[in-house]
Amino acid sequence: MLIKTQRDGFIHPASSEITPQLVYQGRREMMKLMATGAAGAAMASWAGRQALAQAARPGKGTAINTVKSAVPGAITMDKVTEYKDASTYNNFYEFGTDKADPAKNAHTLKTTPWTVEVDGLVKKPAKYTLEDLMKLSAQEERIYRLRCVEGWSMVVPWVGYSLSKLLEKVEPLPNAKYVEFITQADPKTMPFVGSRVLDWPYAEGLRIDEAMHPLTLLAFGMYGETLPNQNGAPVRLVVPWKYGFKSAKTLVRIRFTDKEPKTAWNKAAANEYGFYSNVNPDVDHPRWSQSTERRIGEDGLFAKKRKTLMFNGYEPQVGQLYAGMDLKKNF
Ligand code: MTE
Repeated sequence: MLIKTQRDGFIHPASSEITPQLVYQGRREMMKLMATGAAGAAMASWAGRQALAQAARPGKGTAINTVKSAVPGAITMDKVTEYKDASTYNNFYEFGTDKADPAKNAHTLKTTPWTVEVDGLVKKPAKYTLEDLMKLSAQEERIYRLRCVEGWSMVVPWVGYSLSKLLEKVEPLPNAKYVEFITQADPKTMPFVGSRVLDWPYAEGLRIDEAMHPLTLLAFGMYGETLPNQNGAPVRLVVPWKYGFKSAKTLVRIRFTDKEPKTAWNKAAANEYGFYSNVNPDVDHPRWSQSTERRIGEDGLFAKKRKTLMFNGYEPQVGQLYAGMDLKKNF
């Protein structure tokens, strides 16, 4: 049974739903998080026992040291998706259009050396090496839901820090209104770059207040380790209240502009993928409904679909960004 608390408006799972999350949490000493989070101390001791009883190991990435996130809404209590599912069911069109393609093909991605340029309407444009970028702020662990416009979702413990920490460094100019995210497009290492399915490079955009929102994450890892290539190594965005396609992978450039940037999916089909792309169960995709979703790992003939939540459940944190906007028109 799902319980909605008054305190934060979030849907918290019953304890019976939490066990697999704790398998992961045990390895990451997540008891500390639990003890200070919504679940409270009583559950933490129960959680600790569960966690010690079972151990989980994700991929072969390098472990990243993390601190507990203090950002409201950054820890979702939903059951965490199994690592093997989150890393084998992917959208990463540079490596193919089938969900299994990125895990099969992304080994050719070359992630070192890597730089990210931050420029456009800023006082202090700069180019960061990945190492500098990773050191810019403490790495936080955040458990976010990510919902894809295709009607599936997952819950992933991401590692990174608020993108705002980087954006503030370059001192945006007063006329900067939007932020464009440009990703790697190297046909030598990304076999589907050049295919006609999208305009390359894959690009995304946010309004500046969306980009600066503390929940917008610059992610370097997941499940306590560096990102596997198929999930967007070495650095990607995670914007939890928007459809997954806003969360651009393999970032190479972040550019401040005064005009709404063109985005890859909007260019491909403007009537299907708007600029805002907020998760909104009331706005159907022209070819299918957005009112429910299938949680990856909960497949099976009798698996019930979940009701999709406005802003993917992050309404208490981000709803005010869109006050007064017609979210059917601005889909
Ligand atoms: N970023 C790049 N560079 N290329 C892509 O094809 N796909 C997007 C987004 N970021 C995509 C991308 C889409 S459609 C989704 S749903 C998410 O990545 C999927 O992220 P995941 O594979 O880590 O779940």
